[in-house]
Amino acid sequence: MTTRRTSPSDGAQGADLLLNVTLFRGMPPVMLKELATKLRPVEYRANTDIFHEGDEGASLYIILSGAVKVFIPALDGREVVLAVLRRYDLLGEMSLLDSVPRSASATTIEHTEMVSLSRRDFLSVLSRHPAAQQAIIEVLVKRLRATNQSIQDAYLLDVPGRLARRLLTIAEEHGVPTDEGIDIGLRVSQQELANMIGASRVAVNKQLQTWRRDNIVDVNRQRVTILDEEALAREFALSQ
Ligand code: CMP
Repeated sequence: MTTRRTSPSDGAQGADLLLNVTLFRGMPPVMLKELATKLRPVEYRANTDIFHEGDEGASLYIILSGAVKVFIPALDGREVVLAVLRRYDLLGEMSLLDSVPRSASATTIEHTEMVSLSRRDFLSVLSRHPAAQQAIIEVLVKRLRATNQSIQDAYLLDVPGRLARRLLTIAEEHGVPTDEGIDIGLRVSQQELANMIGASRVAVNKQLQTWRRDNIVDVNRQRVTILDEEALAREFALSQ
């Protein structure tokens, strides 16, 4: 279920949080404060659809907490996971820039808080604040680089290599050190891991069990802990 809070965010508090978003960096404080009053808080429980591929896009979202899976659903129920977006990431900017329907679907994988910005207010920011145009290019280029990397991995690495690399990347971005090793910091099912690397759930499960036996990872429900980072990096290196 979705909880939508409809009151505009408080200007000063909202302006503070905007400082962390690449899109708004270097923006004069007065403009930031004005922009903050236009943001609408939105809150979604875990596993809630935010929008679907092909929907019309009327606003973009800035994620404040939680995690959102961006994916393309296939007719047979499988899905291709393009990215998992986290705090201060932008979601839904593409449709606002090219006026084409949503390029992918978005679903929360954790309880997620965001603020939304309408197309009109977003386009006004871009026209009044030239640095935002540079920033949006950087966001898009970063995504293109990550997508190129995934395509390269899909063509050149085997399943152990792709899985090792993905676990290390997730841990690098979200990992939390624990007594045992590094909790990768994202609650993902084995099916979701499989969808991220273009493999079957069975293949991912088999590989995780092998690594578990070898004390390279520990898997407990949706929690994956890397016990031996070097061994996992070797799996990736051997696969190249
Ligand atoms: P939009 O096309 O409006 O709706 C889907 C959103 O998913 C898109 O905007 C981007 O914000 C995001 N998105 C699409 N493709 C990718 C990708 N390859 N990597 C990260 N985010 C993406």
